[in-house]
Order: sequence, then structure tokens, then C-alpha cells
Amino acid sequence: MGFILAATGSAIGLGNLWKFPFITWENGGGAFVLIYLMCIVGVGLPIMMAELLIGRKTQKSPVGALKEAMGPWWGWVGAWGVMAGFIILSYYSVVAGWSLFYFVKTVGWSLGGFPADLQTGELFTDVIGNGGLQFLLSGLFMAATVGIVYFGVHGGIERVARIFLPILFVILLLLLASALTMEGAGEALAFIFRPNFSELEPRSVLEALGHSFFTLSLGMGAMITYGSYVARNRSIVSAAGTIVLLDTVIALFATIIMFSVIFTVPGMSEQVGRSAAGMLFISLPELFYNVVPFGAVLGPLFYVLVALAALTSTISLLEVVVSYFIDERNMPRPKATLLSGAAIFVFTVLSALSFGALPALSNFEIFEGKAGVFSTLDHFASNWALPLGGLLITLGAGWFMTREATEGELVDETTPRWFRYGAWRFFMRYVAPVAVAAILIAVIFFGMDFS
Ligand code: PHE
Repeated sequence: MGFILAATGSAIGLGNLWKFPFITWENGGGAFVLIYLMCIVGVGLPIMMAELLIGRKTQKSPVGALKEAMGPWWGWVGAWGVMAGFIILSYYSVVAGWSLFYFVKTVGWSLGGFPADLQTGELFTDVIGNGGLQFLLSGLFMAATVGIVYFGVHGGIERVARIFLPILFVILLLLLASALTMEGAGEALAFIFRPNFSELEPRSVLEALGHSFFTLSLGMGAMITYGSYVARNRSIVSAAGTIVLLDTVIALFATIIMFSVIFTVPGMSEQVGRSAAGMLFISLPELFYNVVPFGAVLGPLFYVLVALAALTSTISLLEVVVSYFIDERNMPRPKATLLSGAAIFVFTVLSALSFGALPALSNFEIFEGKAGVFSTLDHFASNWALPLGGLLITLGAGWFMTREATEGELVDETTPRWFRYGAWRFFMRYVAPVAVAAILIAVIFFGMDFS
């Protein structure tokens, strides 16, 4: 149970709350959601099983695990994943830090009243442009992450997941209940679940696919690492199914909540359309006090939700890096944790300061490729690190591991009845590699950007 919660916590994060609602918006709703669900089932789920099985079979972290499962050269794929963890963590914790700020702010507004003349767009630009504050917020977040990973998998990561995930589910359900009573709820549901394929572009398909890697924490070894903690008497197939299902449901809930709010306010939909940050940190704060029933309570809770979701993801990112130093460099955990945390924080500070160097931009331009280190790292992770890592892990599991090796982990008396090993292998060998390669081809030859 601890493992399932920890892995689910890794999957559920800013990807679900911050990225998914926004890309659903950008890509016109229903048809995109449907394509996304297909990517999750056809590509994400089989790869989730592959990563977990590699971890459990070898009982090692990514570098050692891939070497043992596939051959000596495959250690480099693991190393690529460790680097991806390093990079994602260094900008992810910046956004996570913002949720701390908005938590404190919303508590203040709930107690003292929302200032009538406040421009939330200006507030946000001031916050992210304030170097000292960014340093403090992302530093706090990194310190919390390091503090948990320091205590190891059972004493730190699993324990935190056991406490935080249930809290996260409860907050989300409260928000959902409130959202569904709002006037915009009907329109929101129609937008999300009524597909209109005429609006769908080929690019959207690849974006959905790329996001399924990010949101499921695939392609960089996080699930290999967590897979090494799955007990023998547990089914990898059911574990993967549970994690993927929960992650998907939560992404959909978050989207329903956000759109119900947005569609309730006339004219709002024109304003939010430009950035994910705009949705979460500019539009929403104000709406909690103007339109959301019980918003004064739910507002601060919402930012607690964002912070908790982000934290259970950042600990998994750091654990990939830390377990490398423990297993491959024989470092004791405390030293490995503090050293990696400090090294990553250097890059966190660089990305946190990206925004201060910006000339006066309008609120929504910030994420359109102008924010230096922050954007560069995000581009690299989404366009290169995860797709390439995912492609290689997929090819390795499909073509370089024997049938016996993978079947032995996936099929036993604990395996649920719906599972077909032959189908899994087919998807791993043909469907997933072709699909993931398409992302890389689009990036390399067509200059597409999926960050
Ligand atoms: N899955 C996390 C999210 O949706 C991000 C993440 C990616 C975490 C890769 C770990 C590894 O926010």
C-alpha cells in the first residue's frame, strides 16, 4: 500500500493540476481528452508496467537495473534518466514554490478580505520577478524534499505518501463538489467530454502523448526505482493499473474544477487562454473570492493541494538522483541526499531567477519561451529527456529482454484476469516505440515544441 501511494504521488503533480487543464484548453477540449486517454491506455500503461517490472526484477535503481536487465550499454539510458530527474526537479520546484506563496496569500485574504483593487496579474509578475522571494520559496520547497528523502523510502517517502495522498484526495473531492454546483459546470463537462474532432490537429496528438510521459513520471526511471520496492506477492499489472487510473481521474477532476470556475464568469474564457501559470496563479486566486462557493476555505486548501501534489513528485525526482549515488557510487544516503539536493538547488536558483531578468512583459507572455533557464530546462525535459528515455526503455523492454524475463514478472497467480501478456508485448515492441519516436521526429525535423 505504501508503495502504491508513493508511486501514485509521484505521478500526480503539477502535470495534473497545472499542465493538463491548460493543454486541454489549448487543444480545444473533448477530442484532445479522448486522444489523451488513448495514449494513456495504449502507451503509458504498458510502459508503466515495463518500468515497474524492470525495477522489481533487478531490485536496483535505473542505472544498475537497465544494465542488469538489458546489457552493459544500457546503463547510459539509466544515466540519462538520472540527469532528467536532476533537470526536471530544478525547475519544477520553482513552480511548486509559488504554491506556497499563494497558500499564505489566500489565508491572508480569507481572514482579511480580498482587496478590491488588486490586480492579480501584477501580483504574479511581482512575485516571480522578486529574486529574494523566489530564492526563499524554492529553497523551502527543496529543503522539504531533501528532508523527506533523507529518511529513506520507508521512513520518509512512503510515510509521507500515506499521510498526504488521502488529504489530497479529500481536498480535491471538496473542490469538485463545490465546482459542480457552479453555473459553468455543465459547459465545463461538455467542453471536456464532448469530442469535436474538427478542431484536432496532428500536433495535439503528439502533445497528448508527450504529456502522458510527464504525468505518469515515465521515461526517466522514477518508476524503475519505485518498482524495486514492490513486494513479490503484489501484481505489477494491478499496481500499474491503479497508479495510471488514479493519475488520470485526478487530472480530469482538476480540469472539471478549473473549467467550471472559468465558464461561470462571463468573458473569463477569453482571458485565461494564454498560459498555464495564468490559469493557476492569476485567474483562480481572484475567482475563489468572487464565484466559488466556500471559496474562502477552498482557496487556501487548493494551494495546499498543489503543494502536496508537487511535493510527492519532487521526492520521487530526487530519489532517482539519490539512489544513483547510493547504489552506483556507494555513498551513504544522508550524504547522497544533501549533495544532490545542493547541486540541484544551484540550478533551481538559476531558473527561479529567470523571471527577474525579464523586461516588463504582459502577464501572459512569460511562458512563451522568454524566461531563460526555466524555459530551457522545461523544453529539454519535455522534448528530449522524457521522449528519448522513454523510447529507449520501451525498445529495451520489448526487444532486449527475453519473453521469459518479462512474462515472469507480469504473469503469476496475482495477475488480474483482464491482462493479456501477448497484447502487452505487442504494444511494447511496435505501438509504443513508433508513437514515441513520432514525438522525437516532430521535434527534430519539424521544430515542434511540446513543453
Ligand atoms: N508526474 C509528475 C507530474 O505530473 C512529474 C514527474 C515527472 C515526476 C517525472 C517524476 C518524474 O507532475
